[in-house]
Formats: sequence, structure tokens, C-alpha cells
Amino acid sequence: MQLFHVEFYVRDVDAYAAEMERSYGFLRIGEAADSRARSTVLQRGTAILVVTQGLDETHPAALFVGVHGDGVGDIALGVADARAAHTRAVAAGARAVSEPAELSDGTVTAVIGGFGNVTHTFVQPGGPDQDWVLPRFRIDADRRREARRTDTADVIEIDHFAVCLEADMLQPTVDFYRTAIGFEEIFEEHIVVGDQAMISKVVQSPSGAVTLTLIQPDVTRKPGQIDRFLKEHGASGVQHIAFRVADAVRSVARMMGNGVDFLTTPATYYRLMEQRLELSVHTVAELERLGILVDEDHDGQLFQIFTRSSHARRTLFFEIIERVGARTFGSGNIKALYEAVEAEKLDRRIAGA
Ligand code: FE2
Repeated sequence: MQLFHVEFYVRDVDAYAAEMERSYGFLRIGEAADSRARSTVLQRGTAILVVTQGLDETHPAALFVGVHGDGVGDIALGVADARAAHTRAVAAGARAVSEPAELSDGTVTAVIGGFGNVTHTFVQPGGPDQDWVLPRFRIDADRRREARRTDTADVIEIDHFAVCLEADMLQPTVDFYRTAIGFEEIFEEHIVVGDQAMISKVVQSPSGAVTLTLIQPDVTRKPGQIDRFLKEHGASGVQHIAFRVADAVRSVARMMGNGVDFLTTPATYYRLMEQRLELSVHTVAELERLGILVDEDHDGQLFQIFTRSSHARRTLFFEIIERVGARTFGSGNIKALYEAVEAEKLDRRIAGA
């Protein structure tokens, strides 16, 4: 199974596509339009984004935007047999959204419900192409060639999706991905920071190509960022998409130059970092200048930073991640950031005393 593309449902396709080009270096490689919707497809490396604006109020994109605002509406999964994938998922309890259909180039698609109002389109490509695009798009071949290059740009691939789930939905969602889609549960964590907490489980396709970090709030604790997302989005949904880059320092500097607004990191984080780990690449000064975070697991380190959401409801945002061996997702940083903020408060209390 491959990640085929991720589809955003938005109010303004041109504005959204232009922001993804300007901010992250994606290239618009094709367009599609009919009387009900307009879509643009953008690519960088193997990451393919479809941006769709519904023109007819009954189109799924228009319905989604009406309820949730702009957001991820579909995560399309490339499979060897879309009919079989659909039959298996529906037999395991998935909502059948669209029955299998063969398109003009032999590509077969079928759609099921995933979490919240997010769907999964199974796509069985009509040819051997590694990064196939649905035949409804008119593709610019030169831009496509350029978009596949990663030596001149930043984004290599989509590393993972982070999904916020309503309380009590975590285990049913994990079970759904295992039985209906054939994913494996690879990781589980209860993250406690101060008086807030969340529970996270990670599911992944057997090939490792598609990873979802599923997060639900721990309702026995105080409400936190997961609750805020659920309230603003109005349902379970995609909270962030992580783009993998080869060199976080180079890429984050470039994206900042492009106008991307990243979350800032307290200076204390870097003071405490030196007690926490020894950097395998980059310097503390480089990371601190840009606000990049670091975490490590048994396999190595990862460097990550989160954008401030540019969405009207402050829901969806992006993560930039560089992996130097590490296979986890940086949950150590949630704790480290909390401790840095607490240490700064303590410093201020001492200074004020
Ligand atoms: Fe993440």
C-alpha cells in the first residue's frame, strides 16, 4: 500500500494552492474542473496534494467546508486491487461512500469512510507509474518532472498524519485500521504534561508508507490542545501533516524566508536540551536560531518544528521533520517544552523575588 495523495477541501482553491507553492515549494502540476468542483494537484518529491473547492453545495468538498472549514477531506491509498480493498473494508464495518468504479485510463477507485468526515479513496493505478495521478487532471509534464526532484527543494515525502479523535474513539479507530484496512499498531503512549494528558496510538500500513498518529484527550484531566482542535473542527479530523525534509536547518530557514510562521521555542528548552541528549547533526545555536526541536529514540534522533496554523479556525497545521534514524514522532518534545516553560516561570519568579 502506498500513500496515493492527500486531498484538502477548501473554500478557495487558488489561494490555498498558491500558499502551498509559496510556503513549502510545492509545484502545481495539473488542474481539473467540472460543473461541480475545481481541483488543483500539487507535488514535491513523492508528496502529492489535491486541493478541491466544491462549486455545487452538494459536492462533498462544499459540505465538508460548510461544517469544518478548510481541512483534509480524503487520504487516498494506492492499492493493488481497489475492489478487494473496498469489499474487505465494508465487510469489516466501514461506511461505503462510493462503489468501485473504473476510470478512463483503467484506474479503479472506491471510497470508504475513515474517521470523522475524512474518507479514504482506494486507488488502483491504471499503469506502472510510481506516483500516478487520477486521469481527470490535465498534467503539465515539465512541471511534473521538476516537482519530482528533491535535490533542489525541501519536501521529500509525507512522513505522517496526526489525527485528533473524540474521547473513546481511539481503540475503535485502531481496531478499524487493523481489520478494515490491514494496518498494524506500532506504538502506544500516554503523554502527561502538568494537569493535561493525551493518549496516542500509531497505526501504519505494512509497507510503512502510510502512518497515522491517532490522539485522543484523556478526559480525566484538564482540556488541552486536542480538545481545542475537536471544538474548532467540530469532529475527529487531521490536526497536522508532517513533511519530511533532508536537512531541517536548511529547509526551515528557507520556509521562514518564504513567510511560513513557525511556533517559537523558549530559550530554556535549549539550555535543558544539553542535559537531555547529544546532537548527532546540527548545532544548538542553529536549532535555537530557528526554534527547531530535537528528540531521540532507540534508533536515532529527529528534528522537528510545527507551523502556526494559517487556517481560519486554527485547526490544521504542518510539521517539518528530519529523521536521523529515529522512527518515533517526537512526543518527548511535548514534555520537554512543558518543562522549559515551567523552568522559565521559575526563573522569572526567582528574578522577581
Ligand atoms: Fe507529528
